[in-house]
Amino acid sequence: MSRKPIIAGNWKMNLCQSEAKSLFDGISSFVSNYKATELPCVVIAPVFTSLCCVHSIPCDCGCGGNKLSVAGQNCHWEASGAYTGEISVEMLKDAGCSFVIIGHSERRQYFSESDEMINKKAKAILAGGLTPIICCGESLEQRESGATDEWIASQIRAALSGISSEDVSKSVIAYEPIWAIGTGKSCDADEANRVCKMIRSVVSEVAGSSAADSIRILYGGSVKPSTIEEQMSKSDIDGALIGGASLKADSFNEIIEKTMKSCTCCA
Ligand code: PGA
Repeated sequence: MSRKPIIAGNWKMNLCQSEAKSLFDGISSFVSNYKATELPCVVIAPVFTSLCCVHSIPCDCGCGGNKLSVAGQNCHWEASGAYTGEISVEMLKDAGCSFVIIGHSERRQYFSESDEMINKKAKAILAGGLTPIICCGESLEQRESGATDEWIASQIRAALSGISSEDVSKSVIAYEPIWAIGTGKSCDADEANRVCKMIRSVVSEVAGSSAADSIRILYGGSVKPSTIEEQMSKSDIDGALIGGASLKADSFNEIIEKTMKSCTCCA
């Protein structure tokens, strides 16, 4: 089964509006040079206050999808109400988002997000017609003690709990080993692929083999133009979630360009 790759830029807490606008201009003018069928699915996730400075670019092939899509970096599971500082799925949709990143290790670590909260967010995102990018990943300590697979399997089972197979198949998972995020030290591509394959087998167990075949599993953690080709050559890596290298149009566009040779279909 062919899965259209996703190249997603997580801008984290960076770039004020004018900077976000100029980065967006650099990416959108690059993407506009190509047909949707040539490109991976490109996603950018700015801070909430810069969502007004970016916009999606629709596919030119009539499939109804986007060549470039916008993501929120987080959301709340409730639709509205007394949740100071939070943002709902509907609000993100209203601001032009079609994806939402959830469960990033920085949110789990600094904002005490639990698996249960991430599951509620995933359900709210899918109910709102958006696509969750569900992050998972182990710490260095867990890796060194041999607990990686068990930990990640439990994160995935919890995140997908109670979600229909159809919704699971539309979701995206990002495997991001914590020790590889922002360190310049990417996970060995064969090992990243092994973990992504293991994640796919957990998805098959909880949602069936057809959902496991369809779901896109990204790798994240110090992805750079020099690492992407090897990562994309692996059977179970369907794209990348990129932090640092997504903050410069040159490096992000180079990553998109190097991914293009594996893109054959649009939908
Ligand atoms: P990095 O971040 O590419 O800077 O390692 C990845 C992420 O946290 O999503």
